[in-house]
Amino acid sequence: MAVRALWWESGKLAYIDQRLLPGRLHVVRTSHVADVAAAIRTLAVRGAPTIGVAAAYGMVLAKAEGRRADASARLLASTRPTARDLFVGIEAVRRPWIAGEDVLEAAGAYRERIVEECHAIGISGAPLFRGKPRVLTHCNAGALATVEWGTALAPIRVAKQRGARPFVWVDETRPLLQGSRLTAWELAQEHIAHAVIADGAAGHFMRAGEVDFVIVGADRIARNGDFANKVGTYEKAVLANENRIPFYVAAPWSTFDISKPTGASIPVEERAEEEVLELAGTRIAPRRSRARNPAFDVTPARYVTGFVTPEGILPPATLAKVLKGHLRPATAA
Ligand code: MRU
Repeated sequence: MAVRALWWESGKLAYIDQRLLPGRLHVVRTSHVADVAAAIRTLAVRGAPTIGVAAAYGMVLAKAEGRRADASARLLASTRPTARDLFVGIEAVRRPWIAGEDVLEAAGAYRERIVEECHAIGISGAPLFRGKPRVLTHCNAGALATVEWGTALAPIRVAKQRGARPFVWVDETRPLLQGSRLTAWELAQEHIAHAVIADGAAGHFMRAGEVDFVIVGADRIARNGDFANKVGTYEKAVLANENRIPFYVAAPWSTFDISKPTGASIPVEERAEEEVLELAGTRIAPRRSRARNPAFDVTPARYVTGFVTPEGILPPATLAKVLKGHLRPATAA
């Protein structure tokens, strides 16, 4: 894999500061859990599976700093509320810590599990990409968001290795531009054909017959298949339905939350209004204007054609049964 979002290096967590991409590829190295929490809060490290792994290593750093397990877990858990993976990653290290086991080994095993599951998602979803499909994606669900491979982008990578030639419509993803800054960067690195489009242009291309299917990642998937993902995903799903375009959601098991019966109980993060009122630090709205900034929205399961999982593509109706075998009830949050 070409891109890695983070890695462990000589007792430190090393991560790409994703706020600076695509202009600058800057790697930060830290041995403090407070820095990891700040990196997650500010989106220097982002994407559900990646923040789960970062938090797991954050717990390792907290132990080395002589902090307490539960307080460190609370610090990391307070950073972002929506992505289920964050809480799964914290628990993956908190439990062995309490039990007196090797925490670095636990964090490494969690990282491996996520990377392997994302690769398996790639294998499950690759058959969708036979030939030259034109697919649309929202936000960044690539290696930057998952440590390696991606969720939505993993099947594209596996299919390309097998000779497919997909074309990707990349929603720019306002307000923080994870599509144009990060997804386009990953695709450009690997010479995968793509075009960045304004968020409002997706319906135009769907209606013109230029989108064969949509594939996105998820931050949390409820038991009935309702799911939270980057704000704007819901309207893409409705538009896909209106235009009879299949809509897929790719995610590892750590994103599924059986404690949430429907999407109504998924917490949706609301971020600072400056993210909407400013662009790269420059005010783009009148001084007196206020803004609202939900970072995610919830899409009803009825719009999902299939969940691309490490064990195949599952229709929403089969989800509850399959999840029983895979997931423990909720931990924190
Ligand atoms: O706010 P972000 O950039 O962390 O939001 C990320 C997303 O919404 C991704 O689509 C999601 O985490 C799935 S990534 C595999």
